[in-house]
Amino acid sequence: MRSDNHNDIIDTSDAVISIRGLYKSFGALDVLKGIDLDVHKGENVAVLGRSGTGKSVLIKILVGLLRPDAGIVNVLGKEVDKLKGKELDALRLKIGFSFQNSALYDSMDVRGNLEFPLRMNFKNLTKKEIDTAVEEVLEAVGLLDKINQLPSDLSGGQKKRIGIARTLILKPEIMLYDEPTSGLDPITSIEINDLINNVQRRYKTSSIIITHDLTCAKVTGNRVAILLDGTFLKVGTFDDVFATQEERIQSFFNYNFIT
Ligand SMILES: Nc1ncnc2c1ncn2[C@@H]1O[C@H](COP(=O)(O)OP(=O)(O)OP(=O)(O)O)[C@@H](O)[C@H]1O
Ligand SMILES: [Mg+2]
Repeated sequence: MRSDNHNDIIDTSDAVISIRGLYKSFGALDVLKGIDLDVHKGENVAVLGRSGTGKSVLIKILVGLLRPDAGIVNVLGKEVDKLKGKELDALRLKIGFSFQNSALYDSMDVRGNLEFPLRMNFKNLTKKEIDTAVEEVLEAVGLLDKINQLPSDLSGGQKKRIGIARTLILKPEIMLYDEPTSGLDPITSIEINDLINNVQRRYKTSSIIITHDLTCAKVTGNRVAILLDGTFLKVGTFDDVFATQEERIQSFFNYNFIT
């Protein structure tokens, strides 16, 4: 499938994630200093930023793993920091969180890794329902033939795909990808970018893709937000952001081209 943008399937009347005036510090370290962002239904938003700028902190706040110091974070109509217990669990079930270093269970084969979240979250599924779900999601990530392999026998890119399949199996409405292409060679990165776009189409997900990979941001992001000095200096199409005549944005892009 082509990895172009799919603006035809985005519903801009409706934000599934809405962030206003978000602040987060750790002691004297001010990380997020007034973040505003809407992610619309069906949209992929890529968040670009240098290492240590707070990208992972931002998505941890979205799933309630960290609490904001100030601001409003609304996900699927719920204010995340007001939720606890079962309500927070119910919201998290609708969010697929692909961790930066998402580790598979080494002792389980691919099938076991994929069954695990299903069995944890849905106690009454039949074996047939589980098998069907596992096979469907493996087919979606193009790795059905690896169903009986152990993670140690997979390449880095394949592990990432299985990690994405493991979150997709719960049919999330929102996908949060933290550095999906980090540590991968350019060809494998292209495959992951294509997968992110296929997931958007096939599962109608709305996504945030955290990355410092310019190609990943350009190819997967319907819009790109650039996180610099604790705020989104610019949110727009990749080309708009790239063309922005702002010194810090230009130096971010220049830095990425020489490294
Ligand atoms: N729980 C925490 N306690 C204290 N400091 C933290 C905590 N989590 C993150 N930080 C700090 O917040 C800053 C932003 O971290 P974050 O992990 O969000 O960076 P990042 O933009 O994801 O970087 P990278 O691209 O390297 O993944 C860092 O200085 C980090 O040390
Ligand atoms: Mg990070």
